[in-house]
Amino acid sequence: MSTIAVTGAASGIGAAVCQHLEAAGHTLIRVDLRNADVNADLSSAKGRKAAVEQTLAACDNRLDAVVACAGVGVTAPSVGLIIGVNYFGVTEYLEGLETALANSGNGKAVIIGSVAGSHMVAQPHPMTAAMLEGDEARSRQIAEELGDPAAAYAASKYAVTVFGRRKSVAWGKQGMRLNVIAPGAVETPLHQASKEDARFGEAVKNFVAPMGRAGVPDEIADGVDFLLSDQSAFVNGSVLFIDGGMDAMVRAHTF
Ligand code: NAI
Repeated sequence: MSTIAVTGAASGIGAAVCQHLEAAGHTLIRVDLRNADVNADLSSAKGRKAAVEQTLAACDNRLDAVVACAGVGVTAPSVGLIIGVNYFGVTEYLEGLETALANSGNGKAVIIGSVAGSHMVAQPHPMTAAMLEGDEARSRQIAEELGDPAAAYAASKYAVTVFGRRKSVAWGKQGMRLNVIAPGAVETPLHQASKEDARFGEAVKNFVAPMGRAGVPDEIADGVDFLLSDQSAFVNGSVLFIDGGMDAMVRAHTF
């Protein structure tokens, strides 16, 4: 059985991922702001460092997998926070654990991106370039100046997907695998808050997948189970859309 770190473990998709993995007999290191094994704030460099150190201590420098679920949506208190958690909270945490993942012999990671990230594929925003250069201050500054939470969210998810795909190339050569899941709307507290938001509620409610419903956290956790299993042994650098057909509806010609 494996030792697996899950961020955003206290709610929504992360909580469902933990339920699945625990039921399968794996040992979990739950990471979240509170109510977790590792209580840390992934929005700041200091919090990420603490999260990495505590995770390494908990797994004794040998980790089988990471599932990066922690994220904030368009109702986050600031647009800078969206960049800090959704991009740097994933990339710095994962990079801090790379050696421990390599120590397991075939480390794996799954990043929870979003179908929203594909909105940026045709025309990436300058804030994505700053994120991909690792310049947190600059990307936060651009995001704050623009003041558009939906753009910051899409940019953070696009950038974290590009990060994951780039990283998977290096990891593949070491027998490690990294994949991204791009969920569509999933019934979680984050999605509920978006539906209730005065600015974005109508658009979120009207953005309905061809299957006519939102997903449930278990359906994303099923995808994580697959991507961490031997059934996906040759799957690396993929973006798995679990979105009821939303991405196919919006951009059938781009994949
Ligand atoms: P959620 O709000 O239910 O759970 C997110 C978790 O992340 C919470 O437990 C929260 O405390 C944690 N978190 C937030 N900021 C943090 C920080 N600074 N440090 C540590 N932990 C922090 O949300 P949900 O829906 O389960 O989201 C999980 C992931 O799925 C996110 O990355 C989100 O962007 C992504 N996603 C969600 C969709 C949806 O419709 N629910 C759609 C597409 C992607």
